[in-house]
Amino acid sequence: MSEIDKPFFAANWKMHLGPAETSEFVRRFRELHPPRERGRVVFFPPTLSVAAFRTAAEGRPDLEVGVQDVHQDAAGAHTGSVSAVMAAQAGAVWALAGHSERRREFGDGDGLVTAKVSRLLEAGVRPILCVGETLEERENGRLDEVLARQIGAVLDAVDAAELVYAYEPVWAIGTGRTASPDDAANAHGIVRREIEAHGGFAAAPILYGGSVKPANIEELLAAPGVDGVLVGGASLEPDSFAAICAAG
Ligand code: 13P
Repeated sequence: MSEIDKPFFAANWKMHLGPAETSEFVRRFRELHPPRERGRVVFFPPTLSVAAFRTAAEGRPDLEVGVQDVHQDAAGAHTGSVSAVMAAQAGAVWALAGHSERRREFGDGDGLVTAKVSRLLEAGVRPILCVGETLEERENGRLDEVLARQIGAVLDAVDAAELVYAYEPVWAIGTGRTASPDDAANAHGIVRREIEAHGGFAAAPILYGGSVKPANIEELLAAPGVDGVLVGGASLEPDSFAAICAAG
């Protein structure tokens, strides 16, 4: 991981944009966003749209692709799931792990997230570890403790230098409510401290996620310690995500 990774723009499409819509998105996005000399642009479409993404992005190696989730086992009788190895075979270079929607809706706790990160690394897929506190945790003064627990669980098991990190306060996801640049800088400082406590890799990018949009990208990227963004809703339209990727 190096300066070349910054700024790091990531699009989490969640359960939006099937294969046909993905092809159309990429066709338009290629026109709007020429390759840049530095930084990264990574997309997380639904797993079923990864192949369509790759076909549509042919000739544009700067537009990278990943999956939003994998199963914690390498293979087995797990109806409906895909493994890290399959994701790699399908061309996924990146994967999200520990997204708050997975933690809340599917019970992805720290142990499961750690297992998924381990499988991803074994398969040669680069995880983006997502962490963040709920509103209740924040209001109870538990920000520090929650981030330390979520990061510590994973970094006790894997090399801190292998990961990219995303701080996504749960109360800012899909709510239109964005962390202030000061809040983001403070939380990124805690994430950085935990990374360094587990092996001290100072250059690992830390992304901010939660209601990022063209109107707030500049101030968020300018916040100390914010190396990029992980964007949900505002990444679903090529124009809006291209405007975000033009920043920094
Ligand atoms: P929104 O940008 O829609 O708030 O979603 C953020 C997110 O969860 C990205 O992973």
